[in-house]
Amino acid sequence: MRIGNLDIWPNIVLAPMAGITSHPFRTLCKKYGRVGLVVTELISSHAIHYRNQRTWGMFDWTDEERPAFCQLFGGDPATMAEAAQVVVENGADGVDINMGCWVPKVAKTGAGAALLKDLCQAEAVVKAVVDAVGDTVPVTVKVRSGWDSKDVTAIRFAKAAANVGVKAITVHARFASQGFSGTADWSVIGQVKEAVNGIIPVIGNGDIETPQDAKRMMAETDCDAVMIGRAAMGNPWLLARIGLYLETGVLSPEPDGFERIAVAREHAQMQVAQQGEDIGCRELRGLLSHYFKGIPGAPRIRESLTKIKTLSDIEAILDDAHERFVIRLEESDGDGTVAERELAAA
Ligand SMILES: Cc1cc2nc3c(=O)[nH]c(=O)nc-3n(C[C@H](O)[C@H](O)[C@H](O)COP(=O)(O)O)c2cc1C
Repeated sequence: MRIGNLDIWPNIVLAPMAGITSHPFRTLCKKYGRVGLVVTELISSHAIHYRNQRTWGMFDWTDEERPAFCQLFGGDPATMAEAAQVVVENGADGVDINMGCWVPKVAKTGAGAALLKDLCQAEAVVKAVVDAVGDTVPVTVKVRSGWDSKDVTAIRFAKAAANVGVKAITVHARFASQGFSGTADWSVIGQVKEAVNGIIPVIGNGDIETPQDAKRMMAETDCDAVMIGRAAMGNPWLLARIGLYLETGVLSPEPDGFERIAVAREHAQMQVAQQGEDIGCRELRGLLSHYFKGIPGAPRIRESLTKIKTLSDIEAILDDAHERFVIRLEESDGDGTVAERELAAA
């Protein structure tokens, strides 16, 4: 897939996820998932305008993640244009405009998915950002299907966005009013693809959990790339497994318990290095628990993780999990078959 002047390969994008896709997780997805593009969590254009120090800390992309797009939200064209210039000056490879966030804190200000209720304003925001930075980096948008089922706005908006210079559009195929309920209706992605008629690439998003899902979405909608969110949490390998499956049809095995423990450890070390022990450990309580889905003894590990305060607390839990996994292997039939079977069944 080509977004503006950038070649994106593999055509797999890590979804922006607030509280999840900061530098450590993006880096791990790049390393173990080999994604083509990563996107930061949503960043407030107003916070950038007011030079909020904490927000500057979110400009945390590094060369090993590139290309890395920065996602901005805001309903005011001038503020969005200014914020886009700031993040590009700080090295973002592209600017993604959030038009999918439905939470009241964002939507009430006329930002995020609320822009889908006012396409004039949406176009003004997009045009301002394209005018501000479009000559330097690609500008993309991420939308929901629409605000609610009364209007599948994404189809109309996609064409308008392409006309004002947007270089790719991501469609999370749910209405904003649905939140995360129900299932994504991928047919909307196909309709958006038809509407833009090859002028810009369309990235399909919503409910991909397996390599087979990704292949099915591409076949059903003809989208140019897939974006993966929740299923990648604690599972960066999924992105590589999807890439391999799309390219060759080969379904590679899931990582074993040792690999999960090792990467959870790497994640913890990076998070603490970036955020310090206090904030880092608080964030890691949730983040690390995702690595243990399907591991024998996962509930016990998750329970222990709720109490972590220091990196050594985490190391001790992971050492213990490692030890238990070794014992399981030894108690099995020697070559790990029983443990692997347990892992698959858990
Ligand atoms: C915890 C969480 C945080 C999210 N934060 C953002 C965000 O900052 N910006 C955004 O555009 N979408 C955000 N999303 C939506 C995802 O990018 C994605 O569109 C959605 O999860 C559907 O994809 P999935 O089924 O692969 O998870 C978030 C989703 C989750 C679960």
